[in-house]
Amino acid sequence: MKVAVVGLGYVGTVTAACLAANGHDVWGVDVDAAKVAEIQAGRSPVAEPGLDAIVAGCIAGGTLHATTSTAEAISGAELSLVCVGTPSTQRGGTDLSFIGRAVTDIVAALRAGRPPAGGRHSVVIRSTVPPGTVDTVVSPALADGLGGLPLRVGAAMCPEFLREGSGVADFYAPPMIVVGTADPAVAAAVTELFGFLDQPVQAVEVRTAEALKYACNAFHATKVSFANELARLFRHLDVDARAVMELFCRDQVLNISPTYLRPGFAFGGSCLPKDLRSLLHLARQSGADMPLLAGTLATNELVISEVVERVLACDARVVALLGLSFKSNTDDLRESPNVELAERLIGKGFEVRIYDQVVNPAALIGANRRYVESKLPHLGRLLLREPAEALRAADVAVVSTSAPAVLAALEQAAPRHVIDLSGRLGSAVEALPGYQGIGW
Ligand SMILES: NC(=O)c1ccc[n+]([C@@H]2O[C@H](COP(=O)([O-])OP(=O)(O)OC[C@H]3O[C@@H](n4cnc5c(N)ncnc54)[C@H](O)[C@@H]3O)[C@@H](O)[C@H]2O)c1
Repeated sequence: MKVAVVGLGYVGTVTAACLAANGHDVWGVDVDAAKVAEIQAGRSPVAEPGLDAIVAGCIAGGTLHATTSTAEAISGAELSLVCVGTPSTQRGGTDLSFIGRAVTDIVAALRAGRPPAGGRHSVVIRSTVPPGTVDTVVSPALADGLGGLPLRVGAAMCPEFLREGSGVADFYAPPMIVVGTADPAVAAAVTELFGFLDQPVQAVEVRTAEALKYACNAFHATKVSFANELARLFRHLDVDARAVMELFCRDQVLNISPTYLRPGFAFGGSCLPKDLRSLLHLARQSGADMPLLAGTLATNELVISEVVERVLACDARVVALLGLSFKSNTDDLRESPNVELAERLIGKGFEVRIYDQVVNPAALIGANRRYVESKLPHLGRLLLREPAEALRAADVAVVSTSAPAVLAALEQAAPRHVIDLSGRLGSAVEALPGYQGIGW
């Protein structure tokens, strides 16, 4: 393929050189003449292990070219990869002016230059951009600028996962290749582009691809701060955090795993809130702030209060709460966020009708019983034996279980509003007119 790479910084140079080394005819373009001159001279403008040799080989072999002219780079190209910077604005927003300028340059070049083979060009954003950028900035600029031309142009987001310092190695072994686009022809072009990598290309919605990169970077930052925050406390307690984290990382079932990474309702139960409070208490005593862990409690509280607000917005009187314990298949109600939710809804004057397939108030004992008596003293009266009974006359169903009996009753009753806290209710319930997910 003839490919234009717009922006020859860390991402652009690695991408251009590695694509050129794998059979593509790559034209890199940058507004910075010094970077272009470096590449033309067979050197990388950025320091990355192994990159100089790849650039030198591709320049000598004629598969890599560098220019300051977008028109020259784009002329005849089937695909352009936009790798310009997206720095922070003064107020912390994303400065999209380089993206805007790059797309304008591409439009002008497509209007003026030789048409690509097959009469189709794909504009693929590789820079990190906020969700909505392709739909609201890139695609409209392409449609406005290229209307009337006998050229089919589509846009996509293809997030880049390389890390500086291991950029070349990361290019060849990306954690995944994801292309977000509404245009199957663009997805096909990206699949062909990366065909030499031993990785499937996953086509997703464009906003998913845009958001993915932020999710990854936010998680990486959170991991660093998590380890550092614990270390700051543990040092005061005469604990070597390196030893703790070394063992911590060996747990690939609960710790380093997809567990606990599904969006849904608040955490709760007999351990997580209690032990977090304990850690924060230790931190206060030690004079070590732990804003990240304190923030988890704050986020948890927001998740619950937002559901209360959503119910309030439903203009409802009767609420069916389907699922009460903090986890399906257990009757442990201690610090269940569902119990908290029930208590708040009752406090706001709603009639709350509860169904839980495991909880039997008569069988609750010990701390579990005491907790329920303090929070929901009338649980026996609120708890109904069948989900259909709980749903009778309910305007809103707040659902945290995907028990088959609950799903069947929901389909049958089709309440005016269904608030899904679990994300596992299945397509039939999601198709109900009043369905809304808690975070999707
Ligand atoms: N650096 C990384 O490790 C990394 C990893 C993944 C994603 N990203 C993202 O990729 C994007 C690029 O990052 P980078 O570190 O390579 O940036 P960079 O600042 O090193 O390079 C950007 C280049 O784009 C050029 N440029 C700006 N406007 C242009 C235009 N209209 N035409 C041609 N060239 C233009 C600049 O001169 C510069 O050389 C950013 O959105 C970044 O968030 C970076």
